[in-house]
Amino acid sequence: MIAIEDATLIFNAGTPNENRVFEAFNLTVGKGEFITVIGSNGAGKSTLFNLLSGTVMPDSGRIVLNGRDVTKEPEFKRAKTIGRIFQDPLAGTASNMTLEDNMMVCFKKGFKGLRIGLNRKRREFFKEQLKFLDMGLEDRLKDNVGLLSGGQRQALTLLMMVLSRPELVLLDEHTAALDPRNAEIVLRLTTHFVKEYGLTTLMVTHNMQHAIDLGNRLLMMDSGEVVLDIRGEEKQHLTVEKLVAMFSKVRNKQFTNDEALLSR
Ligand SMILES: Nc1ncnc2c1ncn2[C@@H]1O[C@H](COP(=O)(O)OP(=O)(O)OP(=O)(O)O)[C@@H](O)[C@H]1O
Ligand SMILES: [Mg+2]
Repeated sequence: MIAIEDATLIFNAGTPNENRVFEAFNLTVGKGEFITVIGSNGAGKSTLFNLLSGTVMPDSGRIVLNGRDVTKEPEFKRAKTIGRIFQDPLAGTASNMTLEDNMMVCFKKGFKGLRIGLNRKRREFFKEQLKFLDMGLEDRLKDNVGLLSGGQRQALTLLMMVLSRPELVLLDEHTAALDPRNAEIVLRLTTHFVKEYGLTTLMVTHNMQHAIDLGNRLLMMDSGEVVLDIRGEEKQHLTVEKLVAMFSKVRNKQFTNDEALLSR
């Protein structure tokens, strides 16, 4: 579905701050895979997403999306097929626009340029979708999104992303800024949508148990490398302890991630 081939990425090349984040990095993501991604702080998880979405370009190597070389394609073009959600619940929606207008923007995106308008039937559809979120949003189509709570807003962002019918979904700790109850709700909605629509998904999380329980493939990153790539039956039998032990064995050091240790 999407692949990174032999990518090198160097920030501030040739300066005292030079940072070689990726060197000959390779990753192939198959259609329909739900991949959880964990790793120490600064391991390159968000930068990996930046490479996939075109926010940063590799210094060498290629990004191939559905067999097409998109290495040089700017972010806004790739955004037609890639949906990305960040940690900040305010990032995915426009505060000063109503729920229905926000939803319409994404709905139109899903129709790939077809001219469609907001009518009664569509409002009904939006209402139904909002009802499914079970966050009391179904009667608030005309409210500005700025009035919603963080949890409501992140659930709406998720729904809007689904409405835009993305081919690839990138979730970067999208529940980390929410309180435990809302984080749980948004996570449950995430797994529902991924399954229901067969969305090819990469999800960064600091919660090792979530990384183990969700998805069908798990990547553990460290210093710009994928150090563990676990799938299928092996993933089903994982525990946090096993994962930490596997990491120590391949890296010859302890796994450290401030948030991950707290959330065990
Ligand atoms: N635009 C940039 N300019 C310079 N350095 C950058 C830039 N973006 C990322 N980096 C560096 O790349 C490395 C990887 O950062 P990245 O944000 O991908 O880590 P991460 O795995 O997402 O960490 P965290 O768990 O803290 O979110 C870090 O050393 C970071 O400082
Ligand atoms: Mg990050």
